[in-house]
Amino acid sequence: MSQREQWSSKIGFILAAAGSAIGLGAIWKFPYIAGQNGGGAFFLIFILFTLLLGLPLLLAEFSIGRTAESNAVDSYRKIAPGTRWHWVGILGMVTSFILLSFYSVIGGWIVVYLFKAITGQLNNLSSDQYAEVFGATISNPVTSVFVQFLFILMTIIVVAKGVQKGIELASKIMMPALFILFILLVVRAVTLDNAMAGITFLLQPDFSKVTSQTILEAMGQSFFTLSVGVSVMVTYSSYLPKTQSLPRSAISIVAMNIFIVLLAGLAIFPAVFAFDLEPGAGPVLLFNVLPTVFSQLPFGMLFFIAFLVLFLFAALTSAFSMLEIIVSVISKGEPEKRKKWSWIIGLAIFVFGIPSALSFGILGDITLFDKTIFDLADFAVSNVLLPIGSLLIALFVPMKMKKTALYEELKQGSGLKRGLFETWFFLIRFVAPLLIVIVMLDVLGLF
Ligand code: PFF
Repeated sequence: MSQREQWSSKIGFILAAAGSAIGLGAIWKFPYIAGQNGGGAFFLIFILFTLLLGLPLLLAEFSIGRTAESNAVDSYRKIAPGTRWHWVGILGMVTSFILLSFYSVIGGWIVVYLFKAITGQLNNLSSDQYAEVFGATISNPVTSVFVQFLFILMTIIVVAKGVQKGIELASKIMMPALFILFILLVVRAVTLDNAMAGITFLLQPDFSKVTSQTILEAMGQSFFTLSVGVSVMVTYSSYLPKTQSLPRSAISIVAMNIFIVLLAGLAIFPAVFAFDLEPGAGPVLLFNVLPTVFSQLPFGMLFFIAFLVLFLFAALTSAFSMLEIIVSVISKGEPEKRKKWSWIIGLAIFVFGIPSALSFGILGDITLFDKTIFDLADFAVSNVLLPIGSLLIALFVPMKMKKTALYEELKQGSGLKRGLFETWFFLIRFVAPLLIVIVMLDVLGLF
């Protein structure tokens, strides 16, 4: 192909990049990790990492992608020919592979809940019963693997169709709808009896609970929710015309993400305390709490179904980006190859992810370092691979890209002021690498 595909509209890119960012990370993962790490202090540290590391890194990936106008691996090759830097892209592909293998497990949980809600199996249950039904469902090996497969299947079908038609079109309507429904949910949650305890839990920092592990989790979570460190955003921004403002895109994605994280926290924790549930319940937290909150609303089940559809969509738009980065490298933009490789890679990820799906049931007793297979995959991605990928990207930009060219690239379409550019460059050059290394060494007890 002589002419690379481009996003058909400015908003198309923002929606797709935001679609990659906003997903299970903000909605499902944030509440449960915050719940396990004491709430408020975790939230605050997460926000700090998002602003100091996540946002600058997102912009770094954008500038690499739009400078090179190529896929996740060739972008590094183009900018730094004859070096090994393209391994950053390959690392991103590996990260994405593992990521989608467990992400799809949770995606499958949404699918199965949706089925249960539509068929009326969730009507008029107590909050304990919701937890029981859900626990029984996800520990069933056939069900959990089957729904995981369905989730991956949907991902494959869209990615096989190609960038524009597949990803962009679908993103346009669902995101705003998700925001609206979330606000409704929050209004209900914060007006429950004893909601204040949950709001305090989320917003009042208690630093006595902070350990080096908490800090690592908060850092990993900030990378996870913004999809940075994988070169997914390199890939997406490579399709972007030069007229689009990169800084503005990055800021709006970060703002949307923080907003969703806040909404998710405000929807979950008041309900956790109102119904006397356990904030540290782990990956099942959201799934145990949400139906109870919805059941407190008029037409609750209808709203719950609508929510699940939108939630599924948010998870899918993130999943698309994970498969897209791998497929775009291997198929080199050729439509015929894209189709074939979407299926091959997608199915390989499914097979690789089966043990993760089973770790809430028959493989639940298999643990390493006290973690199930699912937890291990999540830990490896969020707290090891994403920080390493991010660190490498933070090193790549100042080492291999010319500062003046970077400024020109970022200024295009945005009129970015020099002072802001210098601040960003300082964050990427010094703050990001130092902070990532310190946090990682600290957790290993080496600091
Ligand atoms: N940002 C996505 C979420 O929060 O659900 C997860 C993700 C997608 C992470 C793509 C990394 C990535 F490359």
